[in-house]
Amino acid sequence: MILPIYIYGHPVLRKVTRDIDANSYPNLKELIDNMFETMYQAEGVGLAAPQVGLEDRIFVVDLSPLADEEHPEFKGMKKVFINAHITERGGDMVIAEEGCLSIPGVHEKVSREDEIRISYLDENLQAHDQIYKGYLARVIQHEYDHLDGILFTDKISLLRKRMNKSKLTNMEKGKVACDYRIKTVR
Ligand code: NI
Repeated sequence: MILPIYIYGHPVLRKVTRDIDANSYPNLKELIDNMFETMYQAEGVGLAAPQVGLEDRIFVVDLSPLADEEHPEFKGMKKVFINAHITERGGDMVIAEEGCLSIPGVHEKVSREDEIRISYLDENLQAHDQIYKGYLARVIQHEYDHLDGILFTDKISLLRKRMNKSKLTNMEKGKVACDYRIKTVR
């Protein structure tokens, strides 16, 4: 089932999420399926639970459609991250453009660490402790930020914030055009 994606200005996007009790979480598999379906329909590469209105520490990513000769590592990158916790960040700070399904029409450069270490449970509740680098680390950090109520627009320069202010203010007022199913604050 395709879920509505919550848009900038909705308070749920600012909540710090909590770890779930994965063994007794109602319909976890169904939620994960719905999150992937919702993400694909909106043509995203990642989606976090607050973006579908939930204060739970879950996100999904799928970079496998972007796999090519230059990025063979994307191939196996359809993944579910439950109770994710980044335990280390390192490497160079790298700047690249990002967007977000909750902030349609805004794309800005964001500086992030090039390497992370993250612990999480997968969809089968198997525990992992993994290092990711490069674009994978970027996508994971973007989704992970959602779990802490942080949006990529928080990390852009003051000038770029000003340049986007009217778009963001309109979103907060529910004025936004989008070709996927959304939910605004009003
Ligand atoms: Ni996002």
